[in-house]
Amino acid sequence: MNTQFERNGSLTELSSYPQWTQDMVGTCEDAKRSVVEHELWDLMRDRTMESTSTRNFMVGIWPVIERFPGYMSMSLLKTQFGRSAGDNLARRWLVRNIRVEQNHAEHWLNWAEGAGIGRDEVLHGRIPRGADVLARWCEEAAGKDSLAAGIAATNYAVEGATGEWSQILFDSASYRESFEESTRTRSLRWLQLHAAYDDTHPWEALEIVCTLMGGNPSVDDVEHIAECVRRSYVSMRVLADICVEPSKATQAANEAAA
Ligand SMILES: [Fe+2]
Repeated sequence: MNTQFERNGSLTELSSYPQWTQDMVGTCEDAKRSVVEHELWDLMRDRTMESTSTRNFMVGIWPVIERFPGYMSMSLLKTQFGRSAGDNLARRWLVRNIRVEQNHAEHWLNWAEGAGIGRDEVLHGRIPRGADVLARWCEEAAGKDSLAAGIAATNYAVEGATGEWSQILFDSASYRESFEESTRTRSLRWLQLHAAYDDTHPWEALEIVCTLMGGNPSVDDVEHIAECVRRSYVSMRVLADICVEPSKATQAANEAAA
């Protein structure tokens, strides 16, 4: 029988979490850095990105943006009130945060529009080959895997790395000023929300994962969570590769599937 996990310190300090969590975060760090330090963000920030790459970015990530509250709903369906402290925490958090996602799809379309990619193109344009890698993985993790694995893959890993790259773009005055002044606030709303909002959100997701796993999880269960987190980062990196250079698609998609 698992003992219960209780956080020992501040929400946003890794040292507040069990050793297995700290090890897991450490082993996934390289994969996370490959997303957060991807050349894509430099190209966007420096306004040196090809317009086809901007298009691939806005259209290629859209399925994940559109579906994100859906992933959370699939996680919610796995919870059962009263079964465990983790179930109760996850249920409460998911119900509250699905509501927070309400307008994010609309904000994404506004960002795309400000960057010169029309709403119709994002909604109906062809997704670059291989760019569905992240959406497919999130769907699989949230739909078919355990509650802890699904939340680790989506709300912890995807949102955590997204918070960091959003911050890189939103912190750049030259990037912000590249948008038409009359619609700038609207264009940057998605970035602004994710750069700030995701500050504590991934930590809360990590706390839920730890609560679900209990104080003494098995080595196999821990390895599985780490694998799910890593796969989210690798899928994000592959997607970033495809945005920058669509010809990398086949090679990268094979890598993510391996
Ligand atoms: Fe969002």
